Amino acid sequence: MFSSLLALVAIVPAFVNAQAAIYAQCGGIGWTGATTCVSGASCQVLNSYYSQCLPGTATTTVGTTTVGTTTVGTTTTTTTVGTTTKTTGTSSAPTGSQTPAAGNPFTGFNVFVPPFYASEVTAAAANITDPTTKAAALEVLNIPTFTWFDQVAKVPDLGTYLAAASAQGKSSGTPSLFQMVVYDLPDRDCAAAASNGEFTIADNGQANYFNYIDQIVAQITPFPDVRVVAVIEPDSLANLVTNLNVAECAAAQTTYLACVTYAIQQLNTLGNVYSYLDAGHAGWLGWPANLQPAANLFTSLYKSAGSPSFVRGLATNVANYNALVAASPDPITAGNPNYDELLYIEALSPLLTGFPAHFIVDQGRSGVQNIRNAWGDWCNVKGAGFGTRPTSNTGYTAIDAIVWVKPGGECDGTSNSSAPRYDYHCSLSDADQPSPQAGTWFQEYFTTLVTAANPPL
Ligand code: BGC
Repeated sequence: MFSSLLALVAIVPAFVNAQAAIYAQCGGIGWTGATTCVSGASCQVLNSYYSQCLPGTATTTVGTTTVGTTTVGTTTTTTTVGTTTKTTGTSSAPTGSQTPAAGNPFTGFNVFVPPFYASEVTAAAANITDPTTKAAALEVLNIPTFTWFDQVAKVPDLGTYLAAASAQGKSSGTPSLFQMVVYDLPDRDCAAAASNGEFTIADNGQANYFNYIDQIVAQITPFPDVRVVAVIEPDSLANLVTNLNVAECAAAQTTYLACVTYAIQQLNTLGNVYSYLDAGHAGWLGWPANLQPAANLFTSLYKSAGSPSFVRGLATNVANYNALVAASPDPITAGNPNYDELLYIEALSPLLTGFPAHFIVDQGRSGVQNIRNAWGDWCNVKGAGFGTRPTSNTGYTAIDAIVWVKPGGECDGTSNSSAPRYDYHCSLSDADQPSPQAGTWFQEYFTTLVTAANPPL
């Protein structure tokens, strides 16, 4: 006891004076290390669990990022959008008064390159010394990825991004399409830990979630000229198909269904938002025994929501590593005839009676195949490379677009076993380590995605 007290006394001054390195953690729930950063970096709050030393001193990098020819975010726009009063908050059913455009929602629009990810990539490239890798990293700035709204505090940024997308559409003559992920369910990530969210069912989670959706609707309302594609709640319905044996998923079932229903109904009232429900991936719902239960859940939720006409279909492989078309089956897929996303989609589609069987497929981190020890390994899998570029020329009528949903370089979860939200998948031998908290920047992982990109950047 005494000697450990002495040791503590000796250590404390070192902690007080230490400055965290660039990209290191510098705050968050449970954090006891350094809270200031080395010169050239500042400690920025990314979520309540994690503050990180990011290059530069700006705390509002997003608002001043320049994308293409459009400067994102003016004070006027931000203020106006941020204070917009929501008028549809109490409506609960889709109006059905607007008709979706016929055909592929991606056709005829320029997909907007989102400023927040651009700011992350710009900062990351600045810290790569090898000129070839740095140049390749900067190529990522030209590729559209989805923007995740994983906390309600980020929702006011949506109006800023849409204002920029709108301006870009007007100046170029081709309207913009903005890609977003709706991701803030109460008791989120019920079968894992790494992405547990800010709301809990026990503490008013459903009402908080409805408010989150209302705020999203309010942000989009002023921008009917921008087409929005929304991926709805990655992993949520898939967990209800296969993981009801997990107590937290069973307890969340009713709330997840109510929240996803509310999301698609409210977004449907806008007339410019095309929604894709998340449908896991080939190695999850693509197993033959899971296909029919999955189709039943998607279909019944959709119908009981009133068949919202702007629900366009399903998103697959979000944040996963599967190929759309695998050159040959990865040995870890043995036993599942649906060993890639196309086979999964082709097997699921005929079972979707009365549900729109259109798909978008994440290929952002699918450039390198056969890198996992097991198909269920999902956390920062080592050796992954950026994959096929986003396109709406997919070659398959059921597939509206190949997309990059997971922003490559944002982490899947921490490998620190004593940190909050630790999930053992993040310290498996095929997981890149050490890794920071989910959603925060993982520089080493980004660099690997760049160098292993297939096709090359
Ligand atoms: C994290 C989110 C993050 C998303 C995209 C998820 O795993 O939990 O915080 O926004 O990945 O990087």
